[in-house]
Amino acid sequence: MAGSRKGARTKAEMAKKLFIKSYGCQMNVYDSGRMADVLAPLGYESVAGPEGADMVILNTCHIREKAAEKVYSELGRLRKLKDAEGEMVIAVAGCVAQAEGEEILTRAPVVDMVFGPQSYHRLPDMLARLEAGAKNILDTDFPVEDKFDALPKVGGAKIPPAAFLTVQEGCDKFCTFCVVPYTRGAEFSRPAAKVIAEAEALAASGTREVTLLGQNVNAYHGEGQGGTWGLGRLISELAKIEGLDRIRYTTSHPRDMDDDLIRAHGEIEKLMPYLHLPIQSGSDKVLKAMNRQHTAEDYRALVDRVRAARSDLALSSDFIVGFPGETDEDFEDTLRLVEEIGYAQCFSFKYSPRPGTPGADMECQVPDEVKAERLTRLQTLLGAQANEFHESMVGREFDVLFEKPGRYDGQIIGRSPYLQATHVIASQDLIGEIGRVRIIAAKTNSLEGELLSSQTREVA
Ligand code: 5AD
Ligand code: SF4
Repeated sequence: MAGSRKGARTKAEMAKKLFIKSYGCQMNVYDSGRMADVLAPLGYESVAGPEGADMVILNTCHIREKAAEKVYSELGRLRKLKDAEGEMVIAVAGCVAQAEGEEILTRAPVVDMVFGPQSYHRLPDMLARLEAGAKNILDTDFPVEDKFDALPKVGGAKIPPAAFLTVQEGCDKFCTFCVVPYTRGAEFSRPAAKVIAEAEALAASGTREVTLLGQNVNAYHGEGQGGTWGLGRLISELAKIEGLDRIRYTTSHPRDMDDDLIRAHGEIEKLMPYLHLPIQSGSDKVLKAMNRQHTAEDYRALVDRVRAARSDLALSSDFIVGFPGETDEDFEDTLRLVEEIGYAQCFSFKYSPRPGTPGADMECQVPDEVKAERLTRLQTLLGAQANEFHESMVGREFDVLFEKPGRYDGQIIGRSPYLQATHVIASQDLIGEIGRVRIIAAKTNSLEGELLSSQTREVA
């Protein structure tokens, strides 16, 4: 039990151990970092596994059925661990928490607290209530206050060379397959000055790359100097921050790629040449049923425009196969679109009906065998394109920001401008630095390079 104290344990006097497991998207990774920041002043230090932890938080994803089921299996394992170890606070956070709330406490009584993505700034308060004997805490409100205002400044936890920065949250698009508008709520953009201040703090702590996050990041419309700023304007201001050398953003909606943002791809060198621009399907009929609010032709024209601005842009997308009503012909339209566009890397999924979304109630659900067969065909094509793109890197030279030690001794690893994991044999001292690399081989999931030179940062 969370509030119980068995014997004369002195754990409370020592640093408390916190294990956060993130599922799903990069915004959950960012949120997990911010939860660690909130808990750091209470003496919690992050550890790599649940064994011996005082608190375990599962930061969950609800986007597809499998993701939610994984959480319940993990809770089963945690129950055994808690039975064996005694004290341990178990919390479920994120989108499953938001969607299922009370249901989690009923289905998994081992859980002490359940809170949604908009309430984790209240963690200290929830912990205090638990200490005071409260049980089964549930906090899935969408509070009126801005959680970002209540969060401590970034920096409580270790700052990586490449960090995430949430600029926008929630979504008003209501694609008919998607739970996000329900779990993350209405669209909200952080004011530009706050984003800039966070990016400056990150840069001052040694971060050299930020990925701007949002469920619909290019719908960003934050309050800025002189009025509302779009993402293009925000990126151009962030690019002025000294020490911040690389900028990325994800995830985008085709409807929100405005002229400013497209221009930014051509003009701002710090903006990396990689764009995740999901289309989901190549069939206009399916796109309409999905409520995507654009056609396949609109998407093709848009890709042409962004590529005209930045010729070496690497594109990626998400695809869903077997959306209700998708015929063989519709699916062929998707394959044709993939062939025409040519992607560097993609994510593809079988449609998973999510309770409460319009798609789940649509007639003509596609049988699982058909979804499986289509997914295999699509993934074969996408895999071939990804390999081709990957292999086209051999012999190329570009800058890599080294982020961590590689898997083998003497290796360090970072990302190519096109987001591929790239490793070289070089001193660990170069972690956090940008080096010029020549690619010598394309491995299955990474590139092997040799270091040509490194631009170590000037020390005043
Ligand atoms: N079923 C399958 N895939 C989904 N996605 C979102 N909702 C579903 C669903 N119900 C996919 C979309 C989205 C990505 C994050 O997850 O492709 O872009
Ligand atoms: Fe979900 Fe993205 Fe559609 Fe919003 S735009 S509903 S987050 S798929």
